[in-house]
Amino acid sequence: MKNILVINGSARKGSVSTALCNAFIEAAENGFNIKTYNAYKLNAKPCYGCGYCDKNKGCINHDLDEFMADFEAADYFIVSTPVFNGSVPSPLKAIVDRFQRYYALRFAHGIKPPVTKPKKAALIITAGSKGEGKENIENMFKQQFTVLNTTLETVIFVDSTDTVELTDTQLENAKNKGSKLFLMAGS
Ligand SMILES: Cc1cc2nc3c(=O)[nH]c(=O)nc-3n(C[C@H](O)[C@H](O)[C@H](O)COP(=O)(O)O)c2cc1C
Repeated sequence: MKNILVINGSARKGSVSTALCNAFIEAAENGFNIKTYNAYKLNAKPCYGCGYCDKNKGCINHDLDEFMADFEAADYFIVSTPVFNGSVPSPLKAIVDRFQRYYALRFAHGIKPPVTKPKKAALIITAGSKGEGKENIENMFKQQFTVLNTTLETVIFVDSTDTVELTDTQLENAKNKGSKLFLMAGS
């Protein structure tokens, strides 16, 4: 059975990004293992840039061991996040920075690819204002995915969420994109 790892970057009740993410993974509810983490609950320690992972395999801190094992086992990696000040909320950014251990495996230890199992990724991004943050967030993950053996397959971006309610059509679009990723094209 294929594994889907979801990381949710919103802590809000009635979160728009979470609603879109739930619609996105609906098609996978049968026949896939889905594991979801909330970045706020996970409460990852930040990367200190200590260089431990350059000399050793893994991180000096063990709070993300289970998450990273799930990441390595994943076939799909879904990141769902609001835009905060042009980027992702700090609990999610801490997780992004903690992927440094794989840069170290690749460039300090010479292991290619540093993540054995290839992954298909999706980004689900919501912004309160029009057009903000998508490009920054997409570029950050695209760059990181080049090291993580991960291909960005689809991006869902819904903006103006602070003034305009999410529509059924937007939810339906998210659902259709999820069906396409999980159920079609030999996925
Ligand atoms: C601390 C903070 C910073 C934010 N920064 C931005 C921003 O830079 N640009 C923007 O368009 N919206 C910004 N927003 C609004 C959120 O992106 C918006 O409310 C989003 O849809 C929330 O997603 P959620 O409902 O999934 O939690 C910010 C909200 C908060 C609380």
